[in-house]
Amino acid sequence: MHTLTILGLESSCDDTAAAVVRQVNDGPPAILSSIIMGQSNLHASYGGVVPEIAARAHAERLDLCVIRALEEAGVTLAEVDAVAVTAGPGLIGGVISGVMCAKGIAIGAGLPLVGVNHLAGHALTPRLTDGAHYPYLMLLVSGGHCQFLIARGVDDFSRLGGTIDDAPGEAFDKTARLLGLPQPGGPSVEQAATAGDPRRFAFPRPLLDRPGCDMSFSGLKTALLRARDAVMADKGGLTRADRADLCAGFQAAVVDVLAEKTRRALGLYLAEDPAQPLLAVAGGVAANTAIRAGLETVCADLGVAFTAPPLALCTDNAAMIAYAGLERFRAGLVDDMTLAARPRWPL
Ligand code: KG4
Ligand code: ZN
Repeated sequence: MHTLTILGLESSCDDTAAAVVRQVNDGPPAILSSIIMGQSNLHASYGGVVPEIAARAHAERLDLCVIRALEEAGVTLAEVDAVAVTAGPGLIGGVISGVMCAKGIAIGAGLPLVGVNHLAGHALTPRLTDGAHYPYLMLLVSGGHCQFLIARGVDDFSRLGGTIDDAPGEAFDKTARLLGLPQPGGPSVEQAATAGDPRRFAFPRPLLDRPGCDMSFSGLKTALLRARDAVMADKGGLTRADRADLCAGFQAAVVDVLAEKTRRALGLYLAEDPAQPLLAVAGGVAANTAIRAGLETVCADLGVAFTAPPLALCTDNAAMIAYAGLERFRAGLVDDMTLAARPRWPL
């Protein structure tokens, strides 16, 4: 019997996280613990993540987070085979905090160190949760990311396209801000949209007239601002129904763009004749029911299976980093003390 137990650390944005993942032989990987210490309370009054505050909070909490992850998993460092850590991309102060903490543990406990690309962590999550077989198509949609990737192996990803400006989550958050709805914007816009008429306002479908899988969401935000201002100029304020219609129109445009670009990305992916075609979606925006339904329809049309990891594993966490580290370690992809923290690191 061959057991691999990996400790993972994540600190690239505003979640300090540590987790322990174990795999016995080729069996399904098990998440023994996944501790996430969020920082949204520290950044709330600034209207966004403040890098310096985030970095300090990570540095202060990582050790505690690691201790809790080990305790909850019921393992000691002596039973851990390697330490995996997000080495980028992300807010550099936070990434450095994580890498330094992981190096300290690796030196202290005499363990191998495995640097993980945060995006690879997200992209490998369907293997952790669903045992997805390579190659699968991945759509990452969150507040910070928006891209199509074909995952062919632990260190083998092809990017088919992505946003050329804002990520969809960012656009949802800005929409909420412009309409005076609470943050995070995604859930509040989705909620408001349920009562709205998506046809009342004509929102653009950016880049649909151009070939390829690239997307753009910043124009939608501008369109929303104009539509809102037109209503305000006309009526002197926004009613609940105006807000609902604006949200519904905006969301319908995002759904159309994501669905059509997914259709194109699936076309490119299917041309490679994958044995078990699968689209996996991850990121906070994957929580949106209308977006999921749009993607599921496209997949059903093209005979492709669809999966979305549970939400807690779609958003930032360390279990995905521990799992990506496990796959890398198994493949012999181990780092040494020269491992650098990278603010930018395309897959
Ligand atoms: O993955 P995530 O937790 O963090 C990163 O951005 O890395 O994603 C957060 C984003 C936020 O922009 C939030 O508004 C969006 O996901 N989001 C949603 C929904 N729930 C969260 N967007 C649309 N519809 C939702 N139901
Ligand atoms: Zn992320």
